[in-house]
Parts: sequence; C-alpha cells; structure tokens
Amino acid sequence: MRHFFQIVTATSILIVIILLQMLALSYPPSYHDSSKQQMSHRGHHQMSFTKDCNCKSLFTIGACGIDKLEDVMPFDTGWKTALSGLNAARKYANMEMMPHLATLARYLPQLFTLNVTLEDDDRFSLNLNTTPSRSMTKLPFVSCNIHQYTSDEVDRCTKEYKRLTGEPLRVAFVGDSRIRNTMQQMIRKLHAKVALKAGNEDIDMDLSTFLDTKVKLNLPIRGDAIELRLHWSAYLDEVRVVDQLDPRVAHQGARDLLEAWVYGNFTEKDGPPPHLIYMSNGLWETNMNDDDVAVEESMTTMKTMRPLLNKLSRMSQILWHMHGPFKDWIAIRNKPTYALDMMNRMSWKYLRDTNIWLWDTRTVLTLKERTECQALHEANLTRKVPWYWGCSDFQHAGMDVEDATGNMIWNLACNKILNFSPDKCCS
Ligand SMILES: *[C@@H]1O[C@H](CO)[C@@H](O)[C@H](O)[C@H]1NC(C)=O
Ligand SMILES: *[C@@H]1O[C@H](CO)[C@@H](O)[C@H](O)[C@H]1NC(C)=O
Ligand SMILES: *[C@@H]1O[C@H](CO)[C@@H](O)[C@H](O)[C@H]1NC(C)=O
Repeated sequence: MRHFFQIVTATSILIVIILLQMLALSYPPSYHDSSKQQMSHRGHHQMSFTKDCNCKSLFTIGACGIDKLEDVMPFDTGWKTALSGLNAARKYANMEMMPHLATLARYLPQLFTLNVTLEDDDRFSLNLNTTPSRSMTKLPFVSCNIHQYTSDEVDRCTKEYKRLTGEPLRVAFVGDSRIRNTMQQMIRKLHAKVALKAGNEDIDMDLSTFLDTKVKLNLPIRGDAIELRLHWSAYLDEVRVVDQLDPRVAHQGARDLLEAWVYGNFTEKDGPPPHLIYMSNGLWETNMNDDDVAVEESMTTMKTMRPLLNKLSRMSQILWHMHGPFKDWIAIRNKPTYALDMMNRMSWKYLRDTNIWLWDTRTVLTLKERTECQALHEANLTRKVPWYWGCSDFQHAGMDVEDATGNMIWNLACNKILNFSPDKCCS
C-alpha cells in the first residue's frame, strides 16, 4: 500500500513538472533566456532587452537591492548614509532625494579642469578638455560594468537587430528639451558612421538643422536599421497638435500617442510602439507656474497618466527621466531645486510598481556637472569654458552628461545582441 502511494506521488510530481514545462513553453520567452535561444525561437518578432535587476541597476540605483550594493562596494560612511537616505526617500514621499544623489556625485571624478598658463608675453592661455564625457566603465553606485560604445558598434548592433527581428531598432524620445538633447547628442556621435535621414512628408528638415536647433515638434530620424523619433511633449497628459507647423505644437503633449501605441490604433506617422522609450513629464509645468501650482500639476499628470504608462511599460521598455537640478546662480526664472525633487518623488510614488525604469544614475552625473560648473562660476571662469560644457545653461546638462546618457541607452539596447561578457550590464 505504502509502495503504491510512493509511486502515485512520484507520478504526480512528474506530471506537475511536465505541466510546468508546458506552461513555460506557452509563456512568452523569459527575459533570462540566452539571447541566442530567444532569437532562434522568435525569428522575425520583437526582441526584448535584458530586464534583470543587474541591467536595471545601470539606470535605477540599487535595483537589485540597495543593501546588495553596499556589499559590492563598501565605501565610507558618507556613501552608505547617502544610499540609505535615498532608499528612505523613495519610500516616504516627504523626504528629499536630491541631496543624497548629490552626495553620491562626490564620489565621481572631476571632469572640468582648466589649466591656466602664463605665456612669455604676459598673456594667459587656457588648456581644457574639448571632448568631455562622463561616460565611464565603472560607476561607484552601479555593480556591473558599462561598455563604452563606438559608432561602429552601434551600427553593428542595429544591423544585427534588424537581421534577427526583421525590423529596425526603434527608439522614441518623448518629452521636452531635456529628452531632445540626449537624442541630439546620440545622433551627433552616430551620424558620421550611420547614414541618417530626418523628416517626413510634414517636415522637411535636414539632419544638421535638427542638430543645431531647438526643435519642438515631432520628427523621425531614420537609418537603414534604426529609427529614432522625437515626439515633442511639453505637458505629457495633453494631446498632440495635428498641424506640425502650428506654433501651438510647442505646448503639446503625447497622451493620444501613448494611447495609440497601447490600443494599437497608431497611424503611420506615429510609428508602431517603439522598442525603447526615453520619456519625461517635462519641465514646463515648473517653468510656467509658481512652485505650488507646478507641483500640483505634475501630481495630476502622474495620476492621470499612470494607468496608461503602466500598460505601455508592458509593451516597450520605458526609461523615465528623473530631473536633475537647476544651476540656480544663472537661473533666469526663480526655480527651486526642491520643486524638481518633489516631481521626482512623485514619479517614484506613481511609477514604482510599474515596469518603468526610473533613471537616477544619470541624475547623479548631472549633479556632479553642476558642482563643477558652480566652482568655475565662483572662480569667474564660466565665460572661458565652451558652451557644450553646459555651465552657462541653467536647466540643461552639457554634452558630457548627454554622452554618458546615450551610452547607457546603447548598453541596454545592444549589449545582449552583441553578446558581451556577463560582467557588463544588460548582456
Ligand atoms: C592640466 O595639468 C595637469 C597637471 O599638469 C595635467 O595632468 C592635465 O592633463 C592638464 N589638463 C588639461 C586639460 O590640459
Ligand atoms: C484608440 O483607441 C482607444 C481605445 O479604444 C481610444 O480611447 C482612442 O481614442 C483611440 N485613438 C485614436 C487616435 O483613434
Ligand atoms: C570676471 O571675468 C570677466 C572677464 O571674463 C571680467 O570682465 C570681470 O571683471 C571678472 N569679474 C570679477 C569679479 O573678477
């Protein structure tokens, strides 16, 4: 009798295992599958990027657990206090985040240096870094390694992506100038190697015009195996303006576009749902309003948009821009950093339980840049440094930060496709 039960149990375990395997097969391929397996099974289909916490930790500090980060990188008490403070601020909306991120920024190397030399004829000459980039292989709050992409490698990646999936890699940029600046810098690095064409039947704009202007409209930039699209959005929860030449387009949002992607009723001009979206709720709510109104409006935006963003985050990988600080010593309008911090905390409150990745590793880089710019300002040297350092722009990061930002995006999009070693994030 006992023997019989043992057989029955063994059989049922076997059945359960078979059932589990069948379930596993019918379920969409797991993100942890090796890329090769996934590719051969899925053929001409959308490919998903690596979604494990290691990859996410390239964007969200301590995505595998902030405690784990402390084990990986035992720094001093200041560093540890900053991490635990950040952890607490993410949970309790009444605590500030930015000061903790600023503390972490102190552990980054200084980039902006000026060597002033006195020449024989009593004149000063300046020596400075003309191609600054904050892109580094190691960051003291990311436990995996970051690959430094060349345009050749991006080219190889997108071609491979197209070969495997049958479609170009689609990256969308939804937001205001802070998002557009990243896109522009990515294209500056890319277009020497990859042939790209801007515009569509609505907007006839060549690439260099796009790179040199503060475009506030919707614009696709296409290469053979890549599609980068700007979807200008100043107030995310508003709808778009139909006529791209209508000046009101600068004040448009993107709600109807996100709906079209989610519900599948997008038009040719919208493009199908992107594989990757870098998105922001924009700064216009703070710029155009006093602080209390700004914070309230941004809360309304997050509340309204959360369900839609949540749905979209199941279809596309969304990277959510966390606001960096203003350089308030040159601010042309009164904008306290705490209003931005409040917006960031609201993003945490409303988006933390979605598949959206809240991107604050980048924010630390902007805080480092801000400190360096402030030092240059205090030494009365701002006017001597090149504009692309961003030190005379009160609300935008310089190219040094945008470079690192774009590089992180390529790590997410390409490390798996290019089969990089497992010590690299997202491979
Ligand atoms: C400035 O001088 C230091 C020390 O001589 C040197 O290491 C550094 O590379 C110089 N920086 C630039 C931008 O020339
Ligand atoms: C797309 O479908 C959704 C859901 O049915 C609807 O709310 C939205 O208005 C539609 N958008 C367009 C542009 O037709
Ligand atoms: C700052 O530098 C500018 C030139 O770049 C000079 O005209 C001005 O007098 C300086 N101000 C101070 C306070 O040194």
